[in-house]
Amino acid sequence: MTASAPYLVAQLSDLHIKAGGKLSYRRVDTAGALHLAIDTLLAAPQRPDTVIITGDLVDFGSEDEYRFLRDILQRLPMPVRLLPGNHDHRTTLRKVFPDHGYLFEHGDGEAPVHYAMAAGPLRLVGFDCTVPGQPGGRVEPDGLAWLEATLAAAPARPTLLMLHHPPFVTGIGHMDQQGLDNAAALEAVIARHPQVERVVCGHLHRQITRRFGGTIAITAPGPAHQVALDLDPQAASRFRMEPPGYLLHWWHPAHGLVTHLAASGDYGPAHPFFDAHGRLID
Ligand SMILES: [Fe+2]
Ligand SMILES: [Fe+2]
Repeated sequence: MTASAPYLVAQLSDLHIKAGGKLSYRRVDTAGALHLAIDTLLAAPQRPDTVIITGDLVDFGSEDEYRFLRDILQRLPMPVRLLPGNHDHRTTLRKVFPDHGYLFEHGDGEAPVHYAMAAGPLRLVGFDCTVPGQPGGRVEPDGLAWLEATLAAAPARPTLLMLHHPPFVTGIGHMDQQGLDNAAALEAVIARHPQVERVVCGHLHRQITRRFGGTIAITAPGPAHQVALDLDPQAASRFRMEPPGYLLHWWHPAHGLVTHLAASGDYGPAHPFFDAHGRLID
């Protein structure tokens, strides 16, 4: 890869893998959905250079779930970078993925999984905002100090900041109640580091975008089930089997970072466009 070439990061999130391919909520085949996303990703015209997975890797944080996930992820030939979500268990994640050295950059066991690394011309910063045993997230002062120093160390590197919980109110009431504590402090840090091209999140199981700290924060769709789109603050916590997918972050040195929504699944071949006279437009 040359410095002038585009660079592609695929973002999967919220895999919720269960051991042995058991169904979630008695109806969602999360392992099958991950296979479908990987099928789609590998068949795409451009193969991503790196895959990031922004949390809720498995459903209950158990070792057999992580081992099952590890087997499925072997299908991906490119580097895969993992970040825990509220369904994950840091110690068990680290135990099953000992070769993912970045998971140990900030400590072992239950230490937060913060890390920073190069990905081609980009920089990936993983920021662990999970609170063990709680669905909601929190930005801890220690983590924030680490983030400030980490971003200050590479001000010229276009950066994707990964965190599981979106740092903004989405309008989906039952998810907003879980929320991310201390998001305003996170926003102040990000605003001081304009190289942060995107804050890329999960947790919401659908694509949602908002301005944040002078940059763009975006959540990824689920590869399996989506959180139902209902903006009534009292709406019940529900999911729907809408088209699943992932995000494709396309970095181009002349054009910056552009984020596409990709649907996973086989929708047949791409068809040519024709003009009003039936002539091919090329
Ligand atoms: Fe999730
Ligand atoms: Fe989550």
